[in-house]
Amino acid sequence: MSLTPVPMLVDCDPGLDDAIALLTAAHFADLVGITTVDGNVGIDYTTRNALAVAQIAGLDVEVHRGAARPLADQSRGARHVHGATGLGNVELPEITRSVESEDAVGFIIETSHRVEGLHLVAVGPLTNVAEALHRDASLPERLEGLTIMGGAAVGGNVTAAAEFNIWADPEAADTVFRLGGDITMVGLDVTQQVLLRPAQVDQMSAARTPAAALAAELLDYAIDRSLELRGWAGAPIHDACAVLAVTHPQLFDGRRQPVDIELTGAHTRGMTVVDDRGSYADSDANVRVLRSADADAVIELIVEAVTAVR
Ligand code: RIB
Ligand code: CA
Repeated sequence: MSLTPVPMLVDCDPGLDDAIALLTAAHFADLVGITTVDGNVGIDYTTRNALAVAQIAGLDVEVHRGAARPLADQSRGARHVHGATGLGNVELPEITRSVESEDAVGFIIETSHRVEGLHLVAVGPLTNVAEALHRDASLPERLEGLTIMGGAAVGGNVTAAAEFNIWADPEAADTVFRLGGDITMVGLDVTQQVLLRPAQVDQMSAARTPAAALAAELLDYAIDRSLELRGWAGAPIHDACAVLAVTHPQLFDGRRQPVDIELTGAHTRGMTVVDDRGSYADSDANVRVLRSADADAVIELIVEAVTAVR
């Protein structure tokens, strides 16, 4: 971790793991803004949920509302994983926070001009990021990095071939992977190695803070769904891995490879096609694809962050 917290803007679709990622970013980075996008649930819920996390954790950070639907498809959702509201069955307090604007794209662009060394971390469908690139193609030149939770070198979760964030808006992902500059892809190859278990729920609950209590409830729900849907004894907290790939890069390993987005396959739409052949030109290796992580260290840092925030 660098001595000075890196400035970070998180674009998200809270979402159980997005919520934990926001707490992780708030602790380990200089979280300069949150933008919301349609994804796990609709934009009304993803935005309410982002405001709820900021309020409960006492985060002094702006939330800007973003895209209500993908570039080409209809809104899909992953309610079978995250619940109808996107935050499992958590009873939220009255949300007194409100969004700073309904122009997440404008905020992303404005922040890239205002904040030196900005890391944009996208942990939902890439609709806002693609729109930002369409509006200002020079955006990547002002970013220290663009880190994406999404895709997989092998396999998928929402289909056999595709990961949810890419599958939910493949046209946006195609734009971002072609025009997004220096991209780091934190895909399922990494995030499915980092499973949080009931022991972590207990550690979070023991902290007795509002943020840790929320995270414990979210994780408990995620573990139940993970067992039900995949037969796993733990839950992958995908999005927090993307945050930690920026703040603790030494815990992750990967290499630059060509990655294309499948847009038309009957069974493969939304697939990240990662070229493993090695015969490609360096200039074609557009994405740093992470392949492994020190899972125990990553889990410890997530618990540290969640229990340290108010
Ligand atoms: O496939 C996992 C990703 O999809 C995570 O970002 C999760 O929040 C969902 O958006
Ligand atoms: Ca997400």
